[in-house]
Amino acid sequence: MDDLREKYVGLIAQASDESTLEDLRVQAVGKKGEISLQMRSLGKMSAEERQVAGPKLNALKDEINSALAAKKTALADAALDERLRGEWLDVTLPARGRPAGTIHPISQVTEEVIAILADLGFAVAEGPQIESDWYNFDALNIPGHHPARAEMDTFYTHRAEGDERPPHVLRTHTSPVQIRHMEAQGAPCRIICPGRVYRADYDQTHTPMFNQVEGLAIDKDISMANLKWTLEEFFSVFFGTEVKTRFRASHFPFTEPSAEVDIQCRWENGSVKVGEGDDWLEVLGSGMVHPKVLQAGGIDPAEWQGFAFGMGIDRMAMLKYGIPDLRAFFDSDLRWLRHYGFASLQQPNLATGL
Ligand code: PHE
Repeated sequence: MDDLREKYVGLIAQASDESTLEDLRVQAVGKKGEISLQMRSLGKMSAEERQVAGPKLNALKDEINSALAAKKTALADAALDERLRGEWLDVTLPARGRPAGTIHPISQVTEEVIAILADLGFAVAEGPQIESDWYNFDALNIPGHHPARAEMDTFYTHRAEGDERPPHVLRTHTSPVQIRHMEAQGAPCRIICPGRVYRADYDQTHTPMFNQVEGLAIDKDISMANLKWTLEEFFSVFFGTEVKTRFRASHFPFTEPSAEVDIQCRWENGSVKVGEGDDWLEVLGSGMVHPKVLQAGGIDPAEWQGFAFGMGIDRMAMLKYGIPDLRAFFDSDLRWLRHYGFASLQQPNLATGL
């Protein structure tokens, strides 16, 4: 027994991996292992012999088993240490650089416009891009025969054959949101409605889809003077310099009186500088909301009045950031986007400047 103990304790200590250890286990205490065979021989011993040999053999078996278990744990610990050394990873290293996308100038300018007008007390309202012709035209005092319908180069949706209802349109302006808002919220109100609009037109300054922002302020005593102040304030903050405006009498079916608004500018080598010089650039349509439009929105024109304006966001982006061709906005040319795009963390904010 002492020989057996010495032999196995020595072999177990030398074992360098788990499979060697397992072989040793089978050899010593497995079914046909040396120690198991000894135990089997107990049956052939006399009672006295067995009393001496039995407990010793059991003790030996226990000793070998715990030596095996201890060695197994030691091997596993060593293996884990080895692996941890090999797979060591410095999680404090700076991450690999990834190409960052940029914010599209239209998204940027939309955010700028919203930041400025929100600061002036306007809330953002939105409406669908596919409109019924009632919201896009009739409710805005543009009846079926009105030439404005043709002028707008409207995209019409398709009706199933036999369906006599007038087709829906891709909204040609953001003005239908005025009606939707008046219906839902009534007066008084101060809202702006940024969003996409559609007209079948394509050249350097026109694309079939473009972006507008609509403004609407309704109250008991709102006048053109409030409109002029609001717009001048807006342009001055937007362009970062005082900008004079010029109101030219005009005509829109949904406003009366109506005015087209020009901003002060100067031309220099074919590019335009806003807020300087004595040239004028037309940038938006506006006026006092027509009584019929108030009525269509469920508001009593005897009690309420207000102003509205509509302005091209893409146009504003072109002017502010010196972008010469509107079509490039929608070409998805990565070089253009990298050049004109904005860093994504550069959120427009009145406090830090736009
Ligand atoms: N809806 C007009 C357009 O798209 C702009 C506008 C809005 C004019 C509000 C006056 C008042 O051309």
